[in-house]
Amino acid sequence: MKKYQCLATANFGVEAVVKRELQALLGDGGQVQVQDGRVYFKGDFKEIYKANLYLRTAERVHIVLHTFMAKTFEDLYQGVKEINWPEILPKDANFMVQGRSAKSQLFSVSDCQRITERALIDRLNEKYSMSFYPKSGARYKIEVILFKDQAQILLDTSGDGLHKRGYRKATVEAPLTETLASALVQLSFYKKDRILLDPFCGSGTIPIEAAMLARNIAPGLNRHFDCEYFKQMDPDWVKDLRKEAFSKIDYTGDLKIYASDKSREAIEAAKKNAEEAGVDQDILFSQEKIEDLNIPGPYGVLISNPPYGVRLSTEEEVDRLYENLKSLYQKDDTWSYYLITSDESFPRKFGKEPSRKRKLYNGRIKVDYYQYYGPRPD
Ligand SMILES: C[S@@+](CC[C@H](N)C(=O)[O-])C[C@H]1O[C@@H](n2cnc3c(N)ncnc32)[C@H](O)[C@@H]1O
Repeated sequence: MKKYQCLATANFGVEAVVKRELQALLGDGGQVQVQDGRVYFKGDFKEIYKANLYLRTAERVHIVLHTFMAKTFEDLYQGVKEINWPEILPKDANFMVQGRSAKSQLFSVSDCQRITERALIDRLNEKYSMSFYPKSGARYKIEVILFKDQAQILLDTSGDGLHKRGYRKATVEAPLTETLASALVQLSFYKKDRILLDPFCGSGTIPIEAAMLARNIAPGLNRHFDCEYFKQMDPDWVKDLRKEAFSKIDYTGDLKIYASDKSREAIEAAKKNAEEAGVDQDILFSQEKIEDLNIPGPYGVLISNPPYGVRLSTEEEVDRLYENLKSLYQKDDTWSYYLITSDESFPRKFGKEPSRKRKLYNGRIKVDYYQYYGPRPD
């Protein structure tokens, strides 16, 4: 089967986790490499579908159709026309061209989109010679990206972003993206046999992602991807790969995942979402304030996103909350703490420098992930 150069996009700071996930999924044949914060790999259509179905921390999976220098519209036109479009798109493809440009001579995105579409249609016409393309079939999202005068033409195989797992039916204010929540868990010491606690669980994203990881539930099982409807994809492969993913779900053993929040609405939302994700039996939810919480056992891992910002709480409330978190931390020195926040005063107010700090992004908001390592269990 033909292998394509592919690109799994990821939020800043998460690329290494995406790389690890891809290597585990595709082995050496995937030729996974990180370049300028982007994760490239080689894959055929089955592997592209698998990447969409199984990757927990990537934002989207693209096929890289062509990369070339484009300083003029003529360069762009010729480069796009070199792509074998009739091999990629069926006659009725619902193709759409999106664009981005940075640090490039071709800075008018709308003109780049127009030229790309023109070149694409001219190449299609060499085979189909149609005066009108009905666009009544499957969606093919094409992206033209210009960076430092280099053009990259991508085909989006995911459709909706991969953070849309399909389980988040109910939400609260300031939820984490599902992809970031999974990265937080994968960057922590959490393992299936250890305790995990999120005392500010909101809509439950962190505990749900942890339970899906522990149960080996493929994150894409609740949704569909654009590539399922591409002409290159055999519907039987999709059926078989989904069946295989279902057969890998591991319901053996009990998980020790605890999720609490002071808000009744948040707990209701989190329970509903966990049910949608198929992990409601794996998480013990409780409506509790951080100040009333007890530690459920030794060697646990606390991963959380404490409230911060004008929408959520006042300065004094935040200070009090950090004091309560600190008291909890001091109750048991076998625990590891992982806290994500955009509040740069966090370590000072928490009263301890982290073992490690990572810079990450929650959507467009810059956040820090403060990691406090406890001892490993004996
Ligand atoms: C930033 S949100 C967490 C969002 C969550 N990670 C998600 O993905 O939906 C912070 C949560 O802390 C809760 N909270 C605020 N003060 C609290 C307290 N004293 N004890 C427990 N929960 C509290 C809020 O109700 C809110 O749901």
